[in-house]
Amino acid sequence: MTSQFEIVEPPVGALPPRARLRSTAGVLPLDARWQFFWSPTADTGKDPADPGLSWDTLPVPSHWQLHGYGSPAYTNVRFPFPVDPPHVPAQNPTGEYRRMIRRPADWRGGRVLLRFDGVDSWFQVWVNGAEVGRASGSRLTVEFDVTGHLTGGDDVLAVRVHQWSFGSYVEDQDQWWLSGIFRSVALLHRPEGGIDDLWVVAGTDGSLEVTAPVPVSWSRPEDVQPWSAEKPALYRLQVSTAAETVSLDIGFRTVRVDGDRLLLNGKPLVFRGVNRHDIDARTGRAVSRERMEHDVALMKQHNINAVRTSHYPPDPYFLSLCDRHGLYVIDECDLETHGFQPVGWRGNPSDDPDWAGVYLDRMRRMVERDKNAPSVVMWSLGNEAGWGRNLAANARWARERDTTRPIHYEADEECESVDVYSRMYPTYDKLEAIGRHAEPALADPARDRRRRGLPMIMCEYGHAMGNGPGGLADYEAVIDAYPRLAGGFIWEWADHALLRDGSYRYGGDFGEPIHDGSFVVDGLLLPDRTPSPGLLEYAAVITPVRLTLDGPDLVIENRWSFTATEDVVFAHASGEILDVPPIAPLSSHRVHHPAQPLDITATLDGRVLSRVQRTSSAVAAVVETGRPATRPDQLGPFPLAGLTLDTWRAPTENDRFPGWDATVSLENQWRAAGLDRLLPSADGRRHLPAGLDSGFEVDYRWSEHGNALRLEVDIERLGEWRLPLPRLGVALALRTPDPGSTVFEWLGLGPGESYPDSRAAVWHGQHRLTVREAQTPYVVPQENGNRSDVSWLRLRSPSGTLRIDGDEPFNAAVRPWSATALETARHADELTEGDVLWVHLAAGVTGLGSASCGPAVRPSAQYRASRVRLGFVFTVD
Ligand code: GAL
Repeated sequence: MTSQFEIVEPPVGALPPRARLRSTAGVLPLDARWQFFWSPTADTGKDPADPGLSWDTLPVPSHWQLHGYGSPAYTNVRFPFPVDPPHVPAQNPTGEYRRMIRRPADWRGGRVLLRFDGVDSWFQVWVNGAEVGRASGSRLTVEFDVTGHLTGGDDVLAVRVHQWSFGSYVEDQDQWWLSGIFRSVALLHRPEGGIDDLWVVAGTDGSLEVTAPVPVSWSRPEDVQPWSAEKPALYRLQVSTAAETVSLDIGFRTVRVDGDRLLLNGKPLVFRGVNRHDIDARTGRAVSRERMEHDVALMKQHNINAVRTSHYPPDPYFLSLCDRHGLYVIDECDLETHGFQPVGWRGNPSDDPDWAGVYLDRMRRMVERDKNAPSVVMWSLGNEAGWGRNLAANARWARERDTTRPIHYEADEECESVDVYSRMYPTYDKLEAIGRHAEPALADPARDRRRRGLPMIMCEYGHAMGNGPGGLADYEAVIDAYPRLAGGFIWEWADHALLRDGSYRYGGDFGEPIHDGSFVVDGLLLPDRTPSPGLLEYAAVITPVRLTLDGPDLVIENRWSFTATEDVVFAHASGEILDVPPIAPLSSHRVHHPAQPLDITATLDGRVLSRVQRTSSAVAAVVETGRPATRPDQLGPFPLAGLTLDTWRAPTENDRFPGWDATVSLENQWRAAGLDRLLPSADGRRHLPAGLDSGFEVDYRWSEHGNALRLEVDIERLGEWRLPLPRLGVALALRTPDPGSTVFEWLGLGPGESYPDSRAAVWHGQHRLTVREAQTPYVVPQENGNRSDVSWLRLRSPSGTLRIDGDEPFNAAVRPWSATALETARHADELTEGDVLWVHLAAGVTGLGSASCGPAVRPSAQYRASRVRLGFVFTVD
C-alpha cells in the first residue's frame, strides 16, 4: 500500500506562497520545547488528538537526531535507501510533535495562519484531531489557514514528521540527513483587508513599482542611492491599508545580462563568493540568528561579496542580513536528484510529468517568499538534478513571473533555459577557454551561438576540503583577464562536522552502512567557525584593493565597482602614510617607488585589505667550514632523539584524489614510489623502499664553529623517477617535556601556514607562536603548518633556546607529534602530544591544489628538484 508520504503531490491544504513581510498584524512565535514522541517506523500508534502530555520534549526548531533519537547519516550523491521512487523504506523514522496553542484574544476577526519555515522531510498537521494539511519541501515555507480549527481556548496542535518521503528523492543535497522541524513555526494574524502579498521592484534609476492584491497606500523614499554589496543602501517602505501596515527594507538596484557581461547598476558584477549551507556543528541545519549574523560578519571581513544559497533557500533572516550588510545572493531552489546519476538518471523526477506540480510548487515557494530581497540577484533552479522538462518549466514560470532577475542552473549545460553559463570546478585551461569564448562547440549551432555569447560563472570552485584549496590566485588571474567571467563561489563556506562527545564527527562516525566519509568537511571555516588558512588566502586573493609591484613601481588597483579609495589608508610598515590620490572604481594608479626594501599596506577601518613587500632575503648563516664533528647528542637545550631524511607528508585530502586533469592521486604516486616507507642502508647514506631501486642518497656533514654547530646535507635522487615530492629535507626529533608549549619564532612568511600555491595571505617578517598554535586543527588530521621562506627559527623551551639559521631560505614545520601520528589519526582529538618536538626543515614542498574536487596541483607548485644542498647553523641563543 502506498503511504500518504509516497504520493507525489504539492502541499495539500496549504495557502498560495507569498512574500515575507514585517507587519503590524499579530505574530505568535511557537518556537519552544514541544511534546515529542519518536518511532523508528512510520506507524507511531499515536492519536493526533492526544496532547502527548506524558511524552518527552524536544526543542523546536531542532533535529531529533541531535537529541538522541536515531542518528545523523551522511551521503553525498547516493541515496541512503533503494532508488525506488516514490517509495521509501519501512524503516521510516517518525516524530510526533504536540503543543497547545491559543488564539490571542486581541486577534479580532480575520484569519489565523500557521507557518512552518522548514520541516524535513514530510509532515502532516492537525488541530484538535482534525487534519489541517500536509506538505513537503524541507527548506521552503508553507502556511495553513487554521482559523476554523481554533476554539479560542487551548487547542492541540499535532505535527507528524516522517524522515523519508517521496520528497527525499528531490532533496539529495550533499549534506547530513537530518530530520524534524528545524526552522521556526509561528501563528500569524491576517486581519480582514490586510496586505497578504506585496511586490516591490526598485531600479537603479530610482524607479519604484509596488504591486499588491488590494489597494494600498505608500510613500516613496526621496533622494535614493543605489543598493550594492559595496554600499547596501536600504530604505524603509511602509505600505498600508486601513487594516494593516507592512514594511519592507528596499534597495534600488538593477541586475542585467548584457551580451556576455553580467551587470549590476550598469557596472560589472563579479562574484567573489562562497557556497553556504545551513550548518552548525551543534545544531545541524537549525541555525541560530546569532550564528547567521556572525557568519555574515566573517564573510564581509574576508572580502566576500556573494553567497550562493547551496542548495536551497536559506532562513529568510539570512537574506535580510545579506540585504543589510551587502552580499549578492544566488537563491537556489530546494531541488537535487543527484542520486539518480548512479542509476544512469533512470526515473529522474526532473523529467517525469508526474512530478511537474511538485517542481513548480518548489520554485514558486522560493520566488514568492524572497522576491523583495535586493540581495537576491539571480534565481537558481536547483543543483545536480540532471535536466528535464520540469526544470525547463520552472525556468519558464520564473522568467514570466520575475522579469528582473536572470536564471541560473549549472546542469543546463546547453543553456537552453538559463541566462548565464555556469560550470563547477573547471580546470584553468577550460576557464580560460570560456573567457576567450573558445569553449568546445555544442552540436546545435544556434544553441552554441547563444551560449557562447553569455556571461559565465563558476557556481562552485576551489574545493576547501582539508588543507586547501591551493591555486586560487591563478583562478583570480583568469577571472581578471576576461570580462565574460563573472567570478565564482568557493565550495564551501563551512565544514559540516557535527560535534558529539567533544569530537568533530563526519560520515561513518554514526555507524552509517553507506556514507561518504569526510567529503562533508570541506569548508573555509573549521566547524568551530575559526577561519582556516584557506579563507585567509581567499580574502587576500579577492581583495578589492590590490597592491602589486611592477619593477620599481607600486601598482594600486581599485577593484570595487562603485567605491573610490578615499577611505583606504596606504602606509609604509614604518607608519608613514603614502600620499595616494583617490582612485576611482575599476581603475588603477601607479606610484614610482624606487626605495628598497618596501612594505606597504592598504587598510580600511583598521582592516588590512592588501600588503605588498619587496624584501631582501636576509640569511646570515656562517657558511665557511669549521672543524669536522660527529653527530651531536644534544642541540642547545634539546636532546637530539633523531635526524632523518624527510620526503613524506601526512597526505592532505587533496593529495588523496587525482583531480580532474590527472589520473593518479599524488598520494598514490608517492606510495607507489615508496616515499612513505624508505629504508636507510647500513651506512645511513642510501634510502630506498623495499622492492624498488629508486630512492635517495644523503650525505650529512657536521662541523663545529666555536659555540655553533653546522650541518650540511646533500640529498640526491637515485633512479629515473621524476614525480613531484611532498617535501625534500630533513626532520629533527628534539626531546622536550612539553613540545606544544615551545615558543616557535621565525623570520619568514607568516604568521599563518603557506604552500607554493597558497601564499597570498602571509607576509615576510618576524613571527612568534607556540608550537601548539602553529598547528591547524583540520577535522581530519593531515599535513599542515608549513612556513615558507624561513631564514631562521628559534625554539624556546623553559630549559633554553635553540636557533637554526639556514644558508638559504627554507620551509619549516614544527609539530608536537610525528608525521606518522598525523597521518594515522582520523579525528583531530586523537592527536596527542608526547615528549618530542618534530622539526621539519625542507628545501621545498609541493603545493595543495584542489584535486579533491577540481584540478590537481599546478605544475608551477609541484616540487621536483632532484638534488639539493641544505645548510643549517645551530646556536644556543
Ligand atoms: C558539487 C556539489 C556540491 C558538493 C561538491 C563537492 O558537485 O554541487 O553539493 O557535493 O560537489 O563537495
